[in-house]
Amino acid sequence: MTYISNLYSIKEKVSIVTGACGQLGAKTCEAFLEAGASVTGVDVDTSKNRLSGVEYYDLDISSKKAVFDVFESIFDKYGKVDILINNAGVSTFDPFEERPEDKFDRVMDINLKGTFWCIQSYVNLMDKLEFKKGAIVNIASIYGIISPDYRIYTDCPRKNSEIYGATKAGIIQMTRYFAVHLADRNIRVNAISPGGIFNPENPQGDDFRKNYSFRCPMKRMAESEEMLGAIIYLASDAASYTTGQNIIIDGGLSCW
Ligand SMILES: NC(=O)c1ccc[n+]([C@@H]2O[C@H](COP(=O)([O-])OP(=O)(O)OC[C@H]3O[C@@H](n4cnc5c(N)ncnc54)[C@H](O)[C@@H]3O)[C@@H](O)[C@H]2O)c1
Repeated sequence: MTYISNLYSIKEKVSIVTGACGQLGAKTCEAFLEAGASVTGVDVDTSKNRLSGVEYYDLDISSKKAVFDVFESIFDKYGKVDILINNAGVSTFDPFEERPEDKFDRVMDINLKGTFWCIQSYVNLMDKLEFKKGAIVNIASIYGIISPDYRIYTDCPRKNSEIYGATKAGIIQMTRYFAVHLADRNIRVNAISPGGIFNPENPQGDDFRKNYSFRCPMKRMAESEEMLGAIIYLASDAASYTTGQNIIIDGGLSCW
């Protein structure tokens, strides 16, 4: 291997991807497998998007104990985990005036608390094994940075919620917090913030796509694959001096 391909290599790294059976999670697992990493995918519903070569665990990341137990099994199996991709996330789409408490709590419990339980278990298990090198990549969102432009949601029932954006802003801040806290343990913590990703299996409305594209300097929504370069970069030794950062991948949407 040349110096440069070595630098970006995640070959033989052991990885955990949460939300592994969703749109971006499955693409991440596929890319990691292709790059020669060992991939363990965890998801609350592992019945969809399964890939051969990935080991799956059913896991609801909002349960602190369940996260620790599953992560412990993975650490026991591999003796280490080099890369943790905190990708699992949910939203709620009803108007905020009618938001029931349980829906607000669910987004908090999965996106923010769940991401925290994963980081906490990962770090505690790393400490136990005295394994001293790791990379965490948190999947945040452009809506943790800017507010959605409600004028574009004409025919799209999936209207972005205040609590979704708040949890994603929280993830970006937790990224900085843990970058500082875990630097001594040689664990780097970074995030990416995707803009709207086109979903071919459950497409956003035509009107919404048209309006979103008009708002976006690159005049289109993202493809899931366009997130992978940054995820692999942040997980690899190419980013060995990069921590606490949030790479915004939004076709320029947040630039104006
Ligand atoms: N799709 C987008 O436009 C977009 C934009 C910005 C950020 N994101 C973020 O990217 C990540 C992936 O999104 P996606 O579009 O692939 O969504 P998705 O719904 O396709 O995938 C999310 C996955 O998380 C799993 N999940 C839900 N609750 C869980 C829980 N409690 N425990 C474990 N797994 C759980 C789901 O089963 C699903 O497989 C999310 O964090 C999302 O917020 C997505």
